[in-house]
Amino acid sequence: MTSVAQAQPNIALIKYWGKRDHVQNLPAVSSLSVTLQSLSTRMSVEFRQSGGPDTLQINNAEAPAMLRRVSHCLDLVAGADRDNADVVSVSNFPIGAGLASSASAFAALVVAAEHELGGSRSQLELARLAGASSGSAARSLFGGIVELTAGDEQIAVETVCDSVDWPLDVIVAITAEGPKPLGSGEAMIRSEATSPFYSSWLENQDDDLCVAREAVNDRNFAQLGAVAEHNCLKMHSVMWSSSPPIVYWNSATLSCMETIRSLQTDGVPVFFTIDAGPQVKAICLPEAVATVRAALQKTAGVINTMHSSLGPGARPSEAR
Ligand code: DP6
Repeated sequence: MTSVAQAQPNIALIKYWGKRDHVQNLPAVSSLSVTLQSLSTRMSVEFRQSGGPDTLQINNAEAPAMLRRVSHCLDLVAGADRDNADVVSVSNFPIGAGLASSASAFAALVVAAEHELGGSRSQLELARLAGASSGSAARSLFGGIVELTAGDEQIAVETVCDSVDWPLDVIVAITAEGPKPLGSGEAMIRSEATSPFYSSWLENQDDDLCVAREAVNDRNFAQLGAVAEHNCLKMHSVMWSSSPPIVYWNSATLSCMETIRSLQTDGVPVFFTIDAGPQVKAICLPEAVATVRAALQKTAGVINTMHSSLGPGARPSEAR
C-alpha cells in the first residue's frame, strides 16, 4: 500500500531562530505562524519488505542530499527497525528557496508515514515528530494562525485562530530563484555561537509573542504587523551580526520592503516578513490583495508573485 499526505508551508510572524537542544531539534524560542493554502507538498510513503535502502524522489528527481533527514524522520515515526521506504515528494512551489518547503515536506512525511503504519497518533504527537526533523514543520500540522510553545523537554503546538475567524492573505514576492546559500539549521548554529545579539533575541521573544497573541485575539492587524516586522528585523539583525555574516537579502528584497512601507503610508493594510531567503512575504487583509500584488509585481527585481489565503494543517490525502 502507498499512503499519501498533503501539507502546506507556514510563514512565521514571530520567528523561530535558535535551538535549545540540537539532538532533539528543540527550538530555543516560541513562535507564531500562518499556514498557507495554495502552496502545497504531496508526499507518498510506501514501506516495503524487500531489501535495499530508503529511496527519495523530490519533484521527479532523486534527492540524495535530503535522504538522511527523511530516513531519520521515518525512524522517529516507525522505529529504527522499520521496513525500508520509498518516498516521493512533489511541491507546487520552489523548494529550498526560503519558502518553508521543509516545513510542508516533514509535516506531510509524518502524516503519510503514520497513515501507512495504521497508527493513531494525535496531531500534536505528529507535530512533535515533524519538529524533531525541522522545527518549523511542527507548525504545519495545524491550520490558520498557529502558536508553537517551546519547552525544556518538548514543544506544544495549537491553532490559536482559524482562517474563518480571521481571514488573512499572503502575497509572496519571489526575488531570486535557486537554492539558498546556507540552510537555516547551519545558520542558526552560527548565530548561536557568534552573534552578540543572540542572547537579547532570546530574552525578548516572549514579549513579542505576547503582543502578537493579543493582536490576534483582538483581530488588531496594525498591532500584529508592527510586532511581526520588528521581530523579523531582529532575527535578521542576529543573522547579519553572526560571523561570518548571514545575509539572505538581495536588492529586490529591500525594494519590496520599500514598496510595502509606501503602501502602509497610503493606508493599505499590509506588513512584511522575510525568512532564511530573499523572498518577501506580504501579509494583508483580503480587500488589499489586488493592490499589494500589483505593487509587488512591478517592484524592481521581482521575478514573480504568488498569492495564498490561510489553509489547513497536514492531513492524509487520496493516492492518485
Ligand atoms: C527563518 O525549521 O528550517 O523560517 O529546525 O533546522 O529545520 P530546522 O530549521 P527551520 O527554520 C525556520 C527558520 C525561519 C523562521 C521560522 O520559520 O520560524
